[in-house]
Amino acid sequence: MVFAMTAIKIHFLCSGCGARHLQWSGRCSSCSQWNTLEEVHPSAPAALPSGRRSHAANSISVVDSAELGARYHSLNAIPTGSGELDRAFGGGLVPGSVTLVGGEPGVGKSTLLTQFLINASKRDLRSLYVSAEESQSQLADRIYRLGGKGSSIGILVANDLAQIEEQLTTYKPKVVVIDSIQTVSDASVVSLAGSVNQVRQCASRLSDIAKREGVALIFVGHVTKDGSLAGPRVLEHLVDTVAYFEGDRDASARILRVVKHRFGPVGDLGMFEMGNSGLADLANATGFHLLDRVPGQAGSSVFPALDGRRVLLTEVQALVVPTFSEQARRVVTGFEANRLLLILAVLERKAGIKLQNKDVFLSVAGGVRLSDPAADLAVVVAIVSALSDRPVDPKLLFLGEVGLGGEIRSASNVGRRLSESCRLGFTRCIVGASFSGAVAGVSLSKVKDVREALQETSLTFR
Ligand code: TYD
Ligand code: MG
Repeated sequence: MVFAMTAIKIHFLCSGCGARHLQWSGRCSSCSQWNTLEEVHPSAPAALPSGRRSHAANSISVVDSAELGARYHSLNAIPTGSGELDRAFGGGLVPGSVTLVGGEPGVGKSTLLTQFLINASKRDLRSLYVSAEESQSQLADRIYRLGGKGSSIGILVANDLAQIEEQLTTYKPKVVVIDSIQTVSDASVVSLAGSVNQVRQCASRLSDIAKREGVALIFVGHVTKDGSLAGPRVLEHLVDTVAYFEGDRDASARILRVVKHRFGPVGDLGMFEMGNSGLADLANATGFHLLDRVPGQAGSSVFPALDGRRVLLTEVQALVVPTFSEQARRVVTGFEANRLLLILAVLERKAGIKLQNKDVFLSVAGGVRLSDPAADLAVVVAIVSALSDRPVDPKLLFLGEVGLGGEIRSASNVGRRLSESCRLGFTRCIVGASFSGAVAGVSLSKVKDVREALQETSLTFR
């Protein structure tokens, strides 16, 4: 008699970056963090509750595409009640889908998802909020304060996987938030809650239920500043949609960035403002960074930046002062320091603008970081405007990359950037000469090089 034997290979997963290793070591060779490798047994399906077949066994069958298509068509995305959230998720969340919302503690994940559940329950979708971090009364109080007075949302304070699974099958919710996936643990897995093993096991078991029952399931995942905490990273490939909620706790603006989406385009952002009654859609997101701008100041220019598919008007500011030290200082925030040096060299060589006796300070307002080379021209103009102490037209935009020869190269998505900016009154833009298109409502000045750009801007310099 021949016995079929399956070799069970143990491997190790890094809780920081999710890298797989065949041997244990004290340090992950992929992300260099210490003590992050955890043992993973691929025999984990043995931990499935009795009576349940594995997901693989369930899914091996041939399905007719017409029938499947019709079934999927009927799965309308659940609108979130927020234009910004719908925009980020491409129209809402799909029943049977699993979404991970990651972010630092305190950024507003629980607030965002409570508001989503309030909206879902107002649409008569049975909603359940599972938390192990807060008490029932805290959760109920938040629901009440966020406008959910009278809306009926199931609250479950639990961290045991079996208990949560049972409630999902008996309460039969259509929308579920698990806050957070790092606090859930399966008693049959030896590792601690929050470890790679636990997070993967719990997430995949809950996802199975969501797919089977058509539940829109959302996991909250805490991420620290360097993004190293176990959980979110190792879950990314397991879920359908991954979104990160970002923002400065001291400022009110928040951004939801969708980095993976099986049901729509990625790269769109949702922008919000945290206030006393929770998160509200950010009005005028495109012009948000210009709110504190003082128009007509020398040393300022506006660049239509693209973040994902979103246009964000961004102010570039420069200050140029005589230097009192041996070496002139170049101080940059929000822009690459080497790129500034390159631009200063081009200005000196190709436009005859001498800055060796000047300190140059460059800053992108609002904490924005510009890595798009198309921002170069706005940087050139801000510096020369600061040097000559002459402001440029506050409604003028600058869009182009500066080459080493002083030439201005065209940028990507000129049409999208300018038509959105035009709605905020920016009706003139200086672009690279190679851009052949036109944009309705915007007058384009096409320039070959830095000299031409400065002439078009009417900047003179001492
Ligand atoms: P929270 O949603 O608990 O963050 P997370 O779940 O990501 O840890 O909210 C965090 C902060 O938001 C908290 O400091 C209080 C503040 N907040 C408001 O400013 N307004 C509100 O209406 C709510 C509910 C919270
Ligand atoms: Mg929370």
